[in-house]
Amino acid sequence: MLGNFTYCNPTKLYFGDKALDNLKTELAKYGKKVLLTYGGGSIKKTGLYDQIIAILNEAGKEIIELPGVMPNPTSDKLIEGADLARKHEVDFILAVGGGSVIDYAKAVSVSAWCNDNPWEKYFLRMEDVDNKIIPIGCILTMVGTGSEMNGGSVITNHEQKLKIGHVFGENVFPKFAILNPVLTYTIPQYQMIAGFYDIMSHILEQYFSGTDDNTSDYLMEGLLKSLIHSSRIAVKDPQNYEARSNIMWIATWALNTLVAKGKSTDWEVHMIGQAVGAYTDATHGMTLSAVSLPYYRHIMPYGLAKFKRYAVNVWDVNPDGKSDEQIAEEGLKRMEEYMREIGLVMSIKELGATEDMIEGIADATFILTGGYKTLSKPEIIDILKQSM
Ligand code: NZQ
Ligand code: ZN
Repeated sequence: MLGNFTYCNPTKLYFGDKALDNLKTELAKYGKKVLLTYGGGSIKKTGLYDQIIAILNEAGKEIIELPGVMPNPTSDKLIEGADLARKHEVDFILAVGGGSVIDYAKAVSVSAWCNDNPWEKYFLRMEDVDNKIIPIGCILTMVGTGSEMNGGSVITNHEQKLKIGHVFGENVFPKFAILNPVLTYTIPQYQMIAGFYDIMSHILEQYFSGTDDNTSDYLMEGLLKSLIHSSRIAVKDPQNYEARSNIMWIATWALNTLVAKGKSTDWEVHMIGQAVGAYTDATHGMTLSAVSLPYYRHIMPYGLAKFKRYAVNVWDVNPDGKSDEQIAEEGLKRMEEYMREIGLVMSIKELGATEDMIEGIADATFILTGGYKTLSKPEIIDILKQSM
């Protein structure tokens, strides 16, 4: 049964190989001073940077640059950006990059005029925004997080060994998002497949929860089938527009709040993955792939009916003559084969985790209650050991 909910997604999306043509019109809606934020330089190599600077100049904007946003943006970098945005009293933030840059832009947007320590206020204390918010827009170059159409912002504090996400409200969502699949062709293979698994994980985190009959579950099965199909094509042929454009759109729908409406969700894989990330600074999608199967095999007995449904509806397991456990296990086996086939990391050891980190990673893992089994610390340790 669907619970009560409000649905509103204010992000205007421009999709396709001509999507960038809309940037100038969108920019005209905001003031003169634009904070242009981006990552470690991929946009300069691809020529996108020059294109954007030309559009900003044509639009008569004053550009303040904020480069160097690292994958898994840090709380120190957040302070740098917030200070710069405040000093220049910027009217708008344009984020060009992947989830890290867009998440970062959201964090800067709520922190520039915040008189508190933003890491403590938003990420440790999870408080709402009660100060001026600078509007943001984004041009997506890396597919996976869904940050282009949601309020999520994940920040890492290396000193405290914590990686925490805050889901901000609609007023922090990007005002517009430009999604051109061609811009994703240059993503290195490792990042690309990490992004594919991030998408899969977002869907599974929302799917493996609840026992009710829920329209979202049917939508998610469709998204998963399309993702599995297109990702198999894209790993062999990264410039296949059909596959890359489908994946880009699936990523957005996987985490633009729609499929979570009216249903319970889990997110424990992300909690464990983020704790692994806090200790290793590994690529987000790979932290999820490394811990997923030990986690799902652990909780399967508690959510057997859903794991059986997953096996049959997503992985086309033939249920005839098999027990529910056998069907469910075969589904996870096919998932494992797929994960190995596309080249995902299946062990946290490969990401730099060592035995002596396990206790700390377990302590840094937030325990949520929406899944089929609320984990205890010894269970988290066990899952981490299985992923070594
Ligand atoms: O920094 P540059 O030089 O641009 O290189 C980036 C970066 O090294 C490169 N890249 C991006 N687009 C490229 C490209 N290289 C060549 N060509 C292109 N077109 O890819 C690398 C990774 O980028 P990053 O933005 O870090 O990847 P992703 O999009 O996976 O974002 C990861 C961050 O998002 C958070 C993660 O925790 C992590 O911090 N998440 C955000 C969520 C949200 N907002 O809802 C949800 C997710 O679950 C996730 O937690
Ligand atoms: Zn994710």
